Order: sequence, then C-alpha cells, then structure tokens
Amino acid sequence: MSVTHLDSLEKIVSLSKSRGFIFQSSEIYGGLSAVYDYGPLGVELKRNIQGEWWKAMTQVHDNIVGVDAAIFMHPKVWEASGHVEGFNDPMIDDKQSKKRYRADMLIEQHILKIRNKGDDNKADELQHLLNTTGTRKGLCEDLYDIIISEEIKSPDSGAFDWTEVRQFNLMFKTHYGAVTKDEDDVIYLRPETAQGIFVNYKNVLDTSRVQIPFGIAQIGKAFRNEVVARQFVFRMREFEQMEMQYFVEPGTDEAEYEKWLETRIAWHKKLGIRGENLRVSPHPEDKLAHYARAAADIQYKYPIGWQEVEGIHNRTDFDLSRHTEYSGKKMEYFDQKNQKRYTPYVIETSVGLDRTTLMVLCDAYREEEVEGESRTVLKMHPKLAPTKAGIFPLIKKPELQELARKIENSLREDFKVMYDEAGSIGKRYRRQDEAGTPFCITVDFEGLEDNTVTIRYRDDMKQDRVAVDQVAAVIQEGLKTWQA
Ligand code: GAP
Repeated sequence: MSVTHLDSLEKIVSLSKSRGFIFQSSEIYGGLSAVYDYGPLGVELKRNIQGEWWKAMTQVHDNIVGVDAAIFMHPKVWEASGHVEGFNDPMIDDKQSKKRYRADMLIEQHILKIRNKGDDNKADELQHLLNTTGTRKGLCEDLYDIIISEEIKSPDSGAFDWTEVRQFNLMFKTHYGAVTKDEDDVIYLRPETAQGIFVNYKNVLDTSRVQIPFGIAQIGKAFRNEVVARQFVFRMREFEQMEMQYFVEPGTDEAEYEKWLETRIAWHKKLGIRGENLRVSPHPEDKLAHYARAAADIQYKYPIGWQEVEGIHNRTDFDLSRHTEYSGKKMEYFDQKNQKRYTPYVIETSVGLDRTTLMVLCDAYREEEVEGESRTVLKMHPKLAPTKAGIFPLIKKPELQELARKIENSLREDFKVMYDEAGSIGKRYRRQDEAGTPFCITVDFEGLEDNTVTIRYRDDMKQDRVAVDQVAAVIQEGLKTWQA
C-alpha cells in the first residue's frame, strides 16, 4: 500500500466543501472573506473537539470551573486590557490595486523567497532587521524602510506603489442601542474570550468556593478584523477560542507555566495528532505581548508551514491589576491559611477551535493506493470522528434493510451513526473513508441466518464477522484503544 500525506491546503479546502465539513460563509452571494460555516460533518467534528477540551480542562480538574460570558462587554474592558490602544497590526496599502497587506508578513514572504534562492546570509540579515523593527525609527517607519529599500512589490498587482505603513486596530466596532450614534455608544465585538473570564474573577471566587490555584475555562466566539485573512479557517475574522485562565500565587507562576505547557502538548497528542507535527516555539523576550512575562506557541506543521495552534502565556497580574485600576474594584485574593493578600498571577492557555479542527483534518488526511485502487481517507481519532459507524444493507432487499435499520436504531442512542444504501458497497466505504468514519457495518444474507454482520475498519480496511449484539462493544473498544 502506498500512502501520501497532505501536501497542500487546497486539498483540505476542497474535501471540506465536497463532504460538508466547512463552507464559505454566504457563498450564494459570492462569499464573505475570512468567515466560514461548518456543515453537517464539520459541526460534529468541531463539537467533539470542544467536548474533549471541556472535559480535559474542567471535568478532570476539581479546581477548574467554567463560565460563558457575553460577547458584548463594557467598552472600558478593552481600555483596561490594552486592546483599544495596542491591539494593532502594521498595514500597508498597494495604491494601484487598493489591496491591504500586513507589512511584517510582506517582509517575511520576501525573506522566504531569498532563502529559497539559497542566499541564507542575506535572508538572516533581513530577518534580524525585521526582528529589531521598532528599535530604530519606530515600528511602522522601520517596516516601511525595509519594504522600500528591498523594493518589495505587491504580490497581487506587482506594483511598487505603497502608502505609508500605518497601525490598524483589529477590533470590530459598532454602536450599542438604537438612539444615537456617537463615540459614547461605541462597543466592540470581543477580540479574545479571556476578558470575559477576568471580569468574572470575583464573581467566581465569591460563589464557587475555589481556592488558589484555580482556573476558569470558557469556549466562545472572538472577532478580529484581520488584515491578512486568506488561509481558510486558519485565520478568520470570526472564530472560536477555548481559553483557560489559571490564577496562581505570584512566585509559583513560572512552575505553573511550565506545567501547563506540558499538559497542553500532551492534550494535542491525546487527540491523535502525530508528535512529529507538533513543536513548541517560545516567544523571544523582545517580542512578548504587552501583558506577558513568558509565552510560547504550540505549533502544528500545517501545509502552509509551522504555525501557532495554541498560545500559553504567563500574563502576570497585568489584567487583574488593570481591571482594578479601571473599575475601582479590588481583584485581590486573601489567603486565609497564610494570612496574606495578593493579586494573583495568571497562566493562560488559549487554543483556537477552528485551528484545532483544521489541524485534525490535516493530520488525518491520507491518499492511499491499495491493489490498484485509490482512496482518500481521514484517519482521525475515532472519538473525534463526526460519524462513528456507517450501517449498510448489502443490497436494497427489505429483509436486509430491516435488520440494518434495527442495528442503526439500537446504536443511535450511544453513537452518531449513518444508514446508507445508495450505490455499491465499495462506493459507500469510500464515502465513509472521506468522512473519517472508523467503522462500517454491512448486513448480508448470511447475517440473516446467524445474526452476524461484517465490520470493516477504516484504517486497515480489514473485516471481521461479529454477532449483532456485539457491535456496540466493538465500537466502544475501538474508541478507547485507537492509536495514531
Ligand atoms: N487570550 C490570548 C489570545 O487571544 P492569541 O494568540 O491572540 O491569544 C489565541 O489567540 C489562539 O486563538 C491562537 O493560538 C489561535 O489558535 C486562535 N486565533 C487567533 N486569531 C485567530 C484567527 N484570526 N483565526 C482563527 N484562530 C485564531
């Protein structure tokens, strides 16, 4: 058997559309860029990932609780968090095509081209210049100087006709209430879910009997007006985050940061992601976000290169202190045992649900040649698979259909299953392979005699003969014991 792994994002985009994982938003109107809808298979996959995260973060920890905060928040939240002032991307416009680009990303692409041509010295020199932007004339001016001196052309029009580099705030702004439309009514769509946790820190502390160290977890939508948004669900303008803020005593933060980094890498592997496709990339000190004392990305080797799927941050007491300052409400913790009072430090784990879904799809994708026949198969962990079992009558005969429906109904309470009688058995297997369905159950005439069915396994395509009343147990066992 020959196996080919994923070599381009386009293959996932195309499979996602043809099999109903992910569609472009508002497609019948030409689509809305960087916004996507999840189809019938996609929503199951996404919910399964969500469920795994929620269980790993809340159910197995007696000191982590959940919240579900609103998307709209008081505008002062974003002043306190630093987003109004500092949540910017440096952007530059091509005057000819009117297209907008992230200045740093244009330079990154230029460096990659130089490296691919074999001029590593020049590439290293430019990378150093890029890494030290902001230390000469200022961030925007330094980026502009590099673009001009390197004569970097617009990727779409090929023109060399740039505006200045300007900072562009990534938050979506709208007006709250129906009466007036002035600056007093401005409200933002949240750019991260984390602030919904910070502003509820005291509520949780006062009502949940938690003691430090403790965590608050949340899953929800976030919105960013990304300048570069052309990488499918990797970079969207509306996306979903799964975040957990872990409140700790100052001084224990470094050890907790290391612990959470390890715990979170282990979670990705437990999802079935191959270890060689995961790595940790610590942020250099001079590139840390305004709130962070230490930070690392957990990166996945997407077909577009190594990219962040999750961020682990030591946010210190930055957020709670700022909310104390802006709200006038104290965010301290009183340690009764040791009779001391302090503002906790926060270790944050922040993973994108859409990027995780994309990672699972990419890691699972295989093209295989088996005895002259080819198939595309998604070998994902069965616990994530949108459909756990396909159930087929061998042919459309009432007695086979009846037993197949009976099996379907007996499994439906415990597993997401799908009945299919359309086309040849081979075609039905291929359809389920592309959907990542780990088990296919076929009812044939022999089974009517001895009450057995054939179970065919997605990964090695082997088949077993199993008693009808054992089918659920075989699926359950497969969900527990699967290995990448
Ligand atoms: N609260 C910290 C925070 O928001 P971040 O690194 O900006 O940190 C965390 O975002 C995660 O959210 C990222 O690792 C990524 O998975 C996801 N994410 C961020 N921007 C995204 C976008 N435009 N589209 C899809 N996912 C995104």
